[in-house]
Amino acid sequence: MLFQKKKKLPAPDRAQLPRHIAVVMDGNGRWAQKRGMPRTFGHSAGSETFQKDAEYLSDLGIEYFTVYAFSTENWKRPPEEVQEILRLLEKYLHKAIREMREKNIRLQFFGDLTPFSQELRALIDETNAISRTTTGMLVSVCLNYGGRAELVRAARLLAEQCVAGTLSPEDIDERRFSGCLYSADIPDPDLMIRPGGEVRLSNFLLWQNAYTEFYFSDVLWPDFDQRQMDAAILAYQQRKRRFGGI
Ligand code: IPE
Ligand code: IPE
Ligand code: MG
Repeated sequence: MLFQKKKKLPAPDRAQLPRHIAVVMDGNGRWAQKRGMPRTFGHSAGSETFQKDAEYLSDLGIEYFTVYAFSTENWKRPPEEVQEILRLLEKYLHKAIREMREKNIRLQFFGDLTPFSQELRALIDETNAISRTTTGMLVSVCLNYGGRAELVRAARLLAEQCVAGTLSPEDIDERRFSGCLYSADIPDPDLMIRPGGEVRLSNFLLWQNAYTEFYFSDVLWPDFDQRQMDAAILAYQQRKRRFGGI
């Protein structure tokens, strides 16, 4: 046979969709290298995939879509690669500012944004402002984000309140702690997808993923299209979540 026909998948059951999908967008560099191209070519392709998948998930009725775009550890990469990732992000933000209202998408950022340029932060502020006027799917972009850094930040915020006398240590519980995380206002992910073949968390949403269903795939992120999303959601819909019960 010259080509193999792709198996047709049933559509996900819209009555049992995960409310919140989180994705580690991994495999861009290898995708490019397989094509004899520089790694940055893969980041560009990965950015397109993110935009197409976000539109698909929004149309499907997903309420929250959280993506890992740049980790606290990704600064270890060559400065040219980091710069290119940030340039692609700026490009995306310009487009988002033009299209968010029409697509009814909300955007927010998790992570320490202080090392970024004034220009990038101004664009982020603008998307935050637009997000107060839109009502659709909330896209949370994890940027200079690390799960451990997020937990340390929460501990510090609580400690500051204790020192100021506005909180007593015995009043610190899970609800109050999670209220100090970047994700304070949104439910935990129901489904965490990691394409790219690695089977690890890489410091992603350490607190929030406590009872999340995981889906790992060897498909590299730029190739993780709507069909792959359907496959992940269908796998999720087969799971029996017990949360420690029976
Ligand atoms: C994920 O793809 C994107 C970022 C971490 C910014 P990678 O760049 O990690 O691609 P691989 O894993 O090296 O193929
Ligand atoms: C995780 O991918 C971070 C992002 C996708 C932004 P990495 O490529 O950085 O993870 P490791 O190094 O393989 O664990
Ligand atoms: Mg990687």
